[in-house]
Amino acid sequence: MATTVFAQSGNSEKDKSTTTKTISPDLFGVFFEDLSYAADGGLYAELVQNRSFEYSASDKKDWNSLTAWEYITQGYSYGTLSIESAHPVHPNNPHYLLLNIEDSGQEGLGISNSGYDGITVKAGEQYNFSVYLQQLSPNPIPVTVQLRDKKGTVYGAATFITESGGWKKYNNVLTVNQTADSLKLFVLAKKPGKLAIDEVSLFPQNTFKGEANGLRADLAQAIADLQPKFMRFPGGCLVHGDGLGNMYRWKNTIGPVEQRIQQRNIWNYHQSIGLGFYEYFRFCEDIGAKPLPVVAAGVSCQNSGGTWRIGGIGQKGLPLTDMQGYIQDVLDLIEYANGPVNSKWGAQRAAAGHPKPFNLQYVGIGNEDKQTDDFRLRFKMIYDVVKAKHPEITVVGTVGPSPSGDDYDQGWKFANLLNIPIVDEHFYERPEWFLSNNARYDTYNRKKSEVYIGEYASQGNDLINALTEAAFMTSIERNGDVVRMASYAPLLANSKHTSWNPNLIYFNNSKWVPTVNYYVQQLFSVNQGDSYIRNVVTFNGITDSTLAASCVKDSRTGDIIIKIVNAGTTATSSKIDLKALNIQSKKAKLNILKGNPNDKNTLNEPLKLVPIVSDFDTKTLNNYTVPAYSLSVIRIKGR
Ligand code: AHR
Repeated sequence: MATTVFAQSGNSEKDKSTTTKTISPDLFGVFFEDLSYAADGGLYAELVQNRSFEYSASDKKDWNSLTAWEYITQGYSYGTLSIESAHPVHPNNPHYLLLNIEDSGQEGLGISNSGYDGITVKAGEQYNFSVYLQQLSPNPIPVTVQLRDKKGTVYGAATFITESGGWKKYNNVLTVNQTADSLKLFVLAKKPGKLAIDEVSLFPQNTFKGEANGLRADLAQAIADLQPKFMRFPGGCLVHGDGLGNMYRWKNTIGPVEQRIQQRNIWNYHQSIGLGFYEYFRFCEDIGAKPLPVVAAGVSCQNSGGTWRIGGIGQKGLPLTDMQGYIQDVLDLIEYANGPVNSKWGAQRAAAGHPKPFNLQYVGIGNEDKQTDDFRLRFKMIYDVVKAKHPEITVVGTVGPSPSGDDYDQGWKFANLLNIPIVDEHFYERPEWFLSNNARYDTYNRKKSEVYIGEYASQGNDLINALTEAAFMTSIERNGDVVRMASYAPLLANSKHTSWNPNLIYFNNSKWVPTVNYYVQQLFSVNQGDSYIRNVVTFNGITDSTLAASCVKDSRTGDIIIKIVNAGTTATSSKIDLKALNIQSKKAKLNILKGNPNDKNTLNEPLKLVPIVSDFDTKTLNNYTVPAYSLSVIRIKGR
């Protein structure tokens, strides 16, 4: 890998003193986007796919209301099945299944669902089954629910009897005694009659923090273990959408799940919207991350309709006559998060089970939008109103998809004009870029907008990628007075449905893997400080960009944390200026991540790279050997 040489990070500031400066307390966070099945089939714990028969060919060619479903006519049962929309549970959820059971045979007539690549269950756990049914014939119909494997072995079952009188929700608990994957959920009617079926759901009781309509516990915990200071959601390109009709509208995502408005996912699948804004806010609260919801800036994605293909429709602006209503939606979002329970939207939050406010502080407007007059006009309309009505909210603007170029320049010009408090920069670049841009923010004009590095990744999951990201992150800490926040992207990818690489976390139905990049993010995030101490680490005479270091202090604990990165081929000695640090304590820990540059952690192999923690003798700070291809995090106890 070619590297550019420049003064390494610890020495790159003109000020050579060891003075400290205050840095952002919100520096390292996460960015969640429903991409690569990150939500449905991922973080959202629902096990039934296409639970309300709303999939269609507009989501994906070959998809329809019966995708992931199978018509079951075993044991000489017969009847008919159709998809209807005349009398749905709720007009927002228009399709449902109609089962006409002429003969229920020995085993019952019904449907089975294959989940997301099979349903995975764990021994000893309980699963909440629920379904909306409308008994359309005079007599009650016994219904059996079963989790079965390919051979027909039953892993959990329940039975109930339908009642007349319109749509009714039925709830059962399935207890599972054996761990299994590739299961299907069967719903079988055991007597002749007519049944309308909708919103078939199976949730593990063991969701993250036991929340209803909750999140997959292991994946949510993996995110929580990053100790993110904030979480940006729900995207990305998902926010501004593939054309105006596909723009993410937060109001469609709250309330009872069967009343939410589902839609196509810009990443070529479907959004059930079971994971909606209420669940996002609740998750942020559960993991102690500040919520950073992003709303579209009144324009769709510039790549709408596949702009790179002939016939793409490109960026479109909402009609100006719709903008007042759209701006009201943004104001209502702030009220939903922070308003009192007697306000219109605060009451909706309380009705969902959360009377206390969510303490929203940041709102993002736009996502790497093309800087056009259409964009600028609409952004300003939204921004001016939010600023005037909610001075307590910090708006995050956007400066295009890349770290330089026309959109970036235009975006910054616009940000300066409007005094936007923070702008969102995105870098998907080669590892070399992260090394040669270590000084990027050292000379940033501190009087201009602060920066949120909302998406960055060095195009790979090898150790060398993670180390170049780590080197760059030392510069984020050093410039934590102007860089307010930073988040790696994307966060989650289902290994069978990955539409973007690399990602921070890969998962399948039963496990997830921490990439080396994950460990780097974690080491920085759990070792964040609130002040930066300049010029603490020196590398003996060497100024190669593969070496980088930072030093922060955490005022809550008094701990001093030194991070040293060596993304190069040779071990190097470093000196940590003990006097400047005025270190009394002898208690310290070293957390080190090192290995071969092209090693990576993958889902189906034992972990190759894991940080190793050990006691550290502070006497050796005077001459610490930094191994080749390593990140060292030295945490010295303050008290
Ligand atoms: O992180 C994946 C995508 O990258 C995001 O949706 C978009 O903002 C960027 O182009």
